[in-house]
Amino acid sequence: MSVDLIGTSRSFKHVLAAISMVAPVDSAVLLLGETGTGKEVIARAIHDASPRHHQRFVAVNCAAIPTGLLESELFGHERGAFTGAVTQTVGRFQSADRGTLFLDEIGDLPLELQPKLLRALQEQQIERLGSGGRPLPIDVRVIAATNQDLSEMVQRRAFRADLYYRLNVFPILVPPLRERTEDIPSLVIHFVRQFAQRQGKVIEEIPEALIDALKRYPWPGNIRELQNVIERAVIAAVNGELQAHGIDGPGERSAEPIRTLAQVEREHILATLDHTGWVIGGWKGAAAMLGLSRTTLIARMQRLGVSRERVQKGSQRADGQRHGGKPNHERRSPTGSSLPGASLVPTVRPL
Ligand SMILES: Nc1ncnc2c1ncn2[C@@H]1O[C@H](COP(=O)(O)OP(=O)(O)OP(=O)(O)O)[C@@H](O)[C@H]1O
Ligand SMILES: [Mg+2]
Repeated sequence: MSVDLIGTSRSFKHVLAAISMVAPVDSAVLLLGETGTGKEVIARAIHDASPRHHQRFVAVNCAAIPTGLLESELFGHERGAFTGAVTQTVGRFQSADRGTLFLDEIGDLPLELQPKLLRALQEQQIERLGSGGRPLPIDVRVIAATNQDLSEMVQRRAFRADLYYRLNVFPILVPPLRERTEDIPSLVIHFVRQFAQRQGKVIEEIPEALIDALKRYPWPGNIRELQNVIERAVIAAVNGELQAHGIDGPGERSAEPIRTLAQVEREHILATLDHTGWVIGGWKGAAAMLGLSRTTLIARMQRLGVSRERVQKGSQRADGQRHGGKPNHERRSPTGSSLPGASLVPTVRPL
């Protein structure tokens, strides 16, 4: 499965240039970048652009395989090599012969296996477990990836220096999405097309305000997180228009200072009072709606400084006029942002 690499930002162009530079040669490549930045798709792109592209691209996630099984997974084993080894098994190195072996999450490779990997890379031969030291020649191009700081791991001896230098022949730094926000519009269009097609939907418009909100979000999960957000938005799309609800939230939330419980309680009481027209008691009053007795609510309003006069004074000061009795919670988004879905301006980006 090969993926189109989307991106024309300066930092991503460096990555694309590095891919074309290193693809034709057999050197080891080390992909360094945060989670979800596209390390695996870049590894595949290098393989696809290399003379090995007719052969296999074999991926091993070093973090996903239990330590005890990893050696046999990488190098294979002979029948009877250990209890339960009932047949001879070919390892991933051998499966990738003449092709590319992608060692993902290399920072999680156990220390005790590191010398064996180094030997396989240097000598281009492996030994199956239980083979009595009989070497098997292999011809494999290795691409490794990690989201950890390998050089720092080397310093604290959590990763072997010799293996690090062997893998770090041609490092490629894959930038986080927040450092290439210019690529967000084209990535969004790409994912919208992809998910609309999969879900059998027609999406005609992407609100410009949505793109702006997406550009402001820091994307800790990088492209994978953006992809998931767009998948959700396409599912929720109504009449061919992408819904921004729940998408513009994260970016705004990150800029929003955390509110104290007292602040949240005060705002909730205010919103309820607004809703009941400041009726406190009775079965339609705010106390009943909040599940409190009338006296408890009044005491809490006093403690939190909630009074009708204050609200009127406050709103006159803030915008010069009353809000016409509209409930408070309709005047601001749940995150307190100025960008609720409903306020999206009608400028659109055609697909
Ligand atoms: N430049 C890109 N263009 C289009 N899609 C991309 C691009 N980069 C990444 N993706 C998509 O983003 C998702 C995450 O990419 P990938 O799995 O390669 O990230 P990763 O860096 O290996 O993440 P992790 O460290 O969590 O393993 C994938 O679905 C991939 O198809
Ligand atoms: Mg990965």
